[in-house]
Amino acid sequence: MSVHKDIKRVTTHVLQEMKTRGEKITMLTAYDYSMAGILDDAGVDVLLVGDSASNVMAGHETTLPITLDQMIYHGASVVRAVKRALVIVDLPFGSYQGNSRAALDSAVRIMKEAGAHAVKLEGGAEVQESIKRILSAGVPVMGHLGLTPQSIYKFGTYTVRAKEEAEAEKLLEDAELLQELGCFAIVLEKIPAKLAAKVAEKIWIPVIGIGAGGGVDGQVLVTHDMLGITKDFRPRFLRRYLDLYESIKGAVNQYIEDVRSRDFPNDKEQY
Ligand code: KIV
Repeated sequence: MSVHKDIKRVTTHVLQEMKTRGEKITMLTAYDYSMAGILDDAGVDVLLVGDSASNVMAGHETTLPITLDQMIYHGASVVRAVKRALVIVDLPFGSYQGNSRAALDSAVRIMKEAGAHAVKLEGGAEVQESIKRILSAGVPVMGHLGLTPQSIYKFGTYTVRAKEEAEAEKLLEDAELLQELGCFAIVLEKIPAKLAAKVAEKIWIPVIGIGAGGGVDGQVLVTHDMLGITKDFRPRFLRRYLDLYESIKGAVNQYIEDVRSRDFPNDKEQY
């Protein structure tokens, strides 16, 4: 059980206090009501309605196709289930880059229609105008640096980012800029552990890592990966806590057998 279950409602302020006290922050993705309710009841601090829904929920190869309307649908489903966790919804590709007015409109829709508590977006200096405009409306923003999947066609691969000095330096500068602009936290994805620890030490806002080692202020995983629902995705950073793919398949096999053999339903399972 989480030692933080006594916190009534997790806010951005609570996350900041946790970093100050040196307490690790837990974050997982959620896209639907049923799963969000379980994760919240278990005591996870932050639920991210990630644009990874594009992969996990809709079967797309990348996060690019998911729309703002679809993110709002997933976000609203998660918000309805949650009593304690902070709910952050990703701004999808094309909804905030290059046009700060459009970015603000997208963020406002997420806050109003999904009932989210904050938004997350990818990038550093290149999206600063959008970040400023969203923050000016009082919407909390989480940054995301390192491997930023919405730029996959620029990177060309999903391998570790910022191994070279120039990219590592740019990442450090971007992290400081995001803090300066007023972001309440940053996600660092798939970068060397040493660099991630350096960022977490250098800035005072919480740094949440995925594939970024243990020297950061908290961890995030895609729930379907850590529960073993996704079958073949096994990157080095992932710890699988269950093999739900096999468990679910086994249960369904049993159900098929029971129906075919007329074992289900039995006398007690009918009216
Ligand atoms: O969309 C997502 O799930 C994310 C996490 C991997 C941080 O952005």
